[in-house]
Amino acid sequence: MKNKVILLLGCLACTVSLSAQPCLREDNIPEVLKAMTTQEKACLVVGFNNGCPGYDPGLPGTGGLTYPMPQYGIPSIVMMDGPTGVRLEPDWHDGKGAAHFTTSFPTGLLTAASWDRSVAARVGKGIGEEALDMGADVLLGPGMNLLRNPLNGRNFEYFSEDPVLSGRIAAAYINGLQSVGVGTSAKHFAANNQETNRLDGDSRLSARTLRELYTRGFEICLRESEPWTVMASYNKLNGVYTQESRELLTDILRGDFGYRGLVVTDWTGKRNTPKQLHAGSDLFMGGAKNQTEHILASLEDGTLSMSDLDLAVTRVLELIVKTPAFRGHVPSLKPDLEGHAVLVRETAAEGMVLLKNQDALPLRPCRAAVFGVHSYDLIPGGNGAAYVSCPYVVSLSDALKEEGFGVDADLERLYSGYTAFADADVAINHKVNVHVGKAQTPELEVTRALIDRKAEESDLAVITLGRTSGEARDRILDRDFLWNEKETGLVKNVCEAFHAAGKKVVVVLNICGPVETASWRDFPDAILCAWLPGEEAGHSIADVLTGRVNPSGRLPMTFPVDYFDMAGAEDFPYDFISDRANESAAHPERRGLPLKNLAYTDYTEGIFVGYRYALTEGKPVAYPFGFGLSYTSFGYSDASVRIKGDQVVASITVTNTGAVAGKEAVGLYISAPLGSFTEKPERELKDFAKTRLLLPGESETLSFRFPVRDLASFDGDRSRWETARGMYRVFFGAEAGSAPAECSLRISRTHIFPL
Ligand code: BGC
Repeated sequence: MKNKVILLLGCLACTVSLSAQPCLREDNIPEVLKAMTTQEKACLVVGFNNGCPGYDPGLPGTGGLTYPMPQYGIPSIVMMDGPTGVRLEPDWHDGKGAAHFTTSFPTGLLTAASWDRSVAARVGKGIGEEALDMGADVLLGPGMNLLRNPLNGRNFEYFSEDPVLSGRIAAAYINGLQSVGVGTSAKHFAANNQETNRLDGDSRLSARTLRELYTRGFEICLRESEPWTVMASYNKLNGVYTQESRELLTDILRGDFGYRGLVVTDWTGKRNTPKQLHAGSDLFMGGAKNQTEHILASLEDGTLSMSDLDLAVTRVLELIVKTPAFRGHVPSLKPDLEGHAVLVRETAAEGMVLLKNQDALPLRPCRAAVFGVHSYDLIPGGNGAAYVSCPYVVSLSDALKEEGFGVDADLERLYSGYTAFADADVAINHKVNVHVGKAQTPELEVTRALIDRKAEESDLAVITLGRTSGEARDRILDRDFLWNEKETGLVKNVCEAFHAAGKKVVVVLNICGPVETASWRDFPDAILCAWLPGEEAGHSIADVLTGRVNPSGRLPMTFPVDYFDMAGAEDFPYDFISDRANESAAHPERRGLPLKNLAYTDYTEGIFVGYRYALTEGKPVAYPFGFGLSYTSFGYSDASVRIKGDQVVASITVTNTGAVAGKEAVGLYISAPLGSFTEKPERELKDFAKTRLLLPGESETLSFRFPVRDLASFDGDRSRWETARGMYRVFFGAEAGSAPAECSLRISRTHIFPL
């Protein structure tokens, strides 16, 4: 907290005019800029690091701080991870021995699976409140890279394979978070879709693919929100580091998308700093002394202009005047853990997706045989920058007991003993090395004899299967997407034994991203995808299983039958096992070698990612984008669409035709005429909405609105958007490919939108 003291002294000096320098205010940024020396400017744009006198690292786990300049009343501002809650160093105890925790909120995938902006806004606001309490000025989230491939290690932090769902959910999250007066960082801009060789990998893709998919989510997000910062990614884009790309950070982000905030670099000092400044990177985090030196030398030798530096300094000052630190906010260090636990329980249940239900759910209290390590040790979130050290995680077994279920005591003893052993094995025996976070506990083998006995003694079986992942490592096909024999054997044996006894089996997926389901999904009676739902995991899952909450989540990405069914599956390091967190550091000998999927990754599938490919090619999938069941049913009527000014305006009436209350998510998809293009996806999501909780028989009319420009495709050769003339089919319904309602829209002339 030393930096807060420096700030107070600085402000005091300013207020009582002890300082000859102007004191920073919202309305005198040019004056302060003018007064600053070149050296001061070069310090301000580089993160405050260990090499600097007076460095205060902030709370353990803090991402980084900026350089304080008390002579101008400029505080050091604090940037903290991450998108699923404030990240403190795990097991951090303060000087008095008290442990500090923050809330583990639902992860990005689950938030997007709610298809509900209000859920994203509530999650964002809760995280923002904790960020404020812990002294953050900018919270380093949301993560909003697209799910190009099921195996990206950070998929759980991100939202969707679709840029519209991703961009709109991100905007709602940002608006919620920033409503408490803390900034966000929309990250990682752009085409940062794998973790293998993450510091240097080159994402190679066409202009059309970039514009229609990988920058599109950011573009939509920036239309609906104003994140204080955007984080430029680590990777290269077509041979140029994104942080050094003026085309990306200035022409596209600021020029085309109208972004007015600050660009912060992802945490590396390895780039060419003057080049980054010229490109439009404003703040260099974590910050290294040699970056300041490099700036000064380049000004001296003329390779960097003062105007580039001044622009960056101005943006840093514009950010600082918005922050809690500048307002003199003193963090309480006491987040509202109880209040946020309620929020987590509720919001997490909103994004759970019911994949299968053959007369098994909702459950009534009964004698339950609860199998699977993760029923007793649920995974709340993933690892790395998004890891949250939370006070507890509610297990499914405990939550079911609270609901009045008789959880089988033998199984509980067996699994609890095993998870305690596995935790100790990791903590004391250091068996597994994960990059900040908790290793996944391997599944336990349970004998068929025990399963048979439990099938006789119980009324129902529940099995939880889990997968976690994290920053700096991608998942690999064999180990992470596919299930091992212990896991599939458990499902098969439990289903055989319980079905033979005339009893039901429910599988809960506690997962960080898509997994293989096609080979085993016929066995159980119900499957609930619970994602990584945050610390109230067991409660939220039990709420859905028992019907207290009627499931209304929808998949934000496709679950393929086979990994190789997806276009571009070979163009991802799906079989590459990284042995250290950072590929470049671990394998300097590989640096510079043009290895496919390591040095570079070709996005050969182009715009045909996820459902765009499956629908266009008629490829069967295990579960389509937008899939999700409910305990009730819905009818659609009165579909309408028209053009109003430069907007497409549409509506649909949804009626609850079933017997229990429920919510329905609706997507609006468009099938567009080809125009001057040779190929377009069969359908594309353009907007989405969700009903309130509808009682049986109740209806709600949902409205949709988006610019006509959103109907366009990007012509890479001519660098412009084109909305073709002709008949557009408009489909209503969340699930890509299905269409409970349809209408059409005629566009009478081709619209060209130049950049
Ligand atoms: C991650 C960012 C994170 C930053 C600060 C980087 O390694 O890619 O997402 O915000 O570290 O911790």
